[in-house]
Amino acid sequence: MQRSMMHLLLAGFVLATAEANLITDLKEFAYSQQANADYQPQGQQHYPGSRTQVIPLPRESYGWPNVPLPFLGQISGVSINLQGHPVLFHRGKRVWDETSFNTSYAFQHTKEGPIPVDTVLTLDKNTGLVIDAWGANRFYMPHGCTVDDKGFIWLTDVALHQVFKFAPHSKAPQLTLGSPLQAGSDSRHLCMPTAVAVASDGQFFVSDGYCNARVLKYNPQGHVMRVYPQQREHLNLAIPHGVTLLEHHDLLCIADRENRRVTCVSAELRSPGQYSRSLNIQPPGLGRVFAIASVGDLVFAVNGPTSPQIPVQGFTISPFSEAVLDTWSPTSVRFHNPHGIAISKNGTELYVVETSPNRIWKFDTSQWVDMNQLAYVPLEPE
Ligand SMILES: *[C@@H]1O[C@H](CO)[C@@H](O)[C@H](O)[C@H]1NC(C)=O
Ligand SMILES: *[C@@H]1O[C@H](CO)[C@@H](O)[C@H](O)[C@H]1NC(C)=O
Repeated sequence: MQRSMMHLLLAGFVLATAEANLITDLKEFAYSQQANADYQPQGQQHYPGSRTQVIPLPRESYGWPNVPLPFLGQISGVSINLQGHPVLFHRGKRVWDETSFNTSYAFQHTKEGPIPVDTVLTLDKNTGLVIDAWGANRFYMPHGCTVDDKGFIWLTDVALHQVFKFAPHSKAPQLTLGSPLQAGSDSRHLCMPTAVAVASDGQFFVSDGYCNARVLKYNPQGHVMRVYPQQREHLNLAIPHGVTLLEHHDLLCIADRENRRVTCVSAELRSPGQYSRSLNIQPPGLGRVFAIASVGDLVFAVNGPTSPQIPVQGFTISPFSEAVLDTWSPTSVRFHNPHGIAISKNGTELYVVETSPNRIWKFDTSQWVDMNQLAYVPLEPE
């Protein structure tokens, strides 16, 4: 009896928050409910968010971490491992500034050597305690971090111009792409690669990156299968800075940072060569999109400083309606420079990392609501 009362109260609170958010959103964004016929899900399963009107309301987890963190540099990437713990990729004392690269994208401080401290840290999801640390004396300018569904960890380094795949608990990469400290634009070179997304069959995508403005698709052995965009495709990327796969829809979404949009293309995992038109999420308030993650049919994004009119915040996006459904941010202090985002597979926990100030945020995303009916939807266990 008491418990259901609590639930009702909780639902009321959640709905009030939802309503407030919605009103802000309706003002800020041209709101589109038009589903895209090209991408209608077939044989729809029940994923969290598989009905795009049902969205979580991210709420800052106060008091996490509840232990002091060790010194962290600019935190460029975050992902969630198979045990549900956040994994961070940070830069130690190295800072990316205007002296870091010259106009041909060569890193200018190679003499300082790789970053001497552990750059890859796993934090306990409940306490924030560091439970694993490695990656000293290897990386020059950490960027993207992705744990795939087998537990492999993929890291990108924009100074090395390389991407690495590490087996869990292995300190030697199982796969290395690109040539160390050599920028290039052919299939053996990368130029400041930003992020990785991995399919369940081991094919993967690399956003490459600051100079090449392309996304490469690889087979599991690391051979290039495809480059986005090809000439006939009307897809001009301007710093693809993040990638996420909605594998059940064969869809790859790209944080197309300087175009201030999220653009989604066919990942062609099931149907190679079957290119369809891209989906574009580009409302005026979105700004420069730094990072994206996805669960079910929803994409979660964070933007970065763009203009005084555009708040730095989080976005909940429905790619299929090409619409922003909600915006969110921490309540204690604002975001400044969010650079990475990750959401757990079951959709209940979300992390955002920032550079300057160097911070990690945990959000509780276990409360999901139906936007149309504004009804409380209890999350089904996995
Ligand atoms: C969802 O996953 C996270 C991270 O793996 C875990 O901590 C949490 O307990 C899970 N929640 C539910 C309701 O299964
Ligand atoms: C950039 O730096 C690299 C290595 O330090 C050097 O080889 C290259 O000539 C420089 N390019 C320009 C345009 O200064």
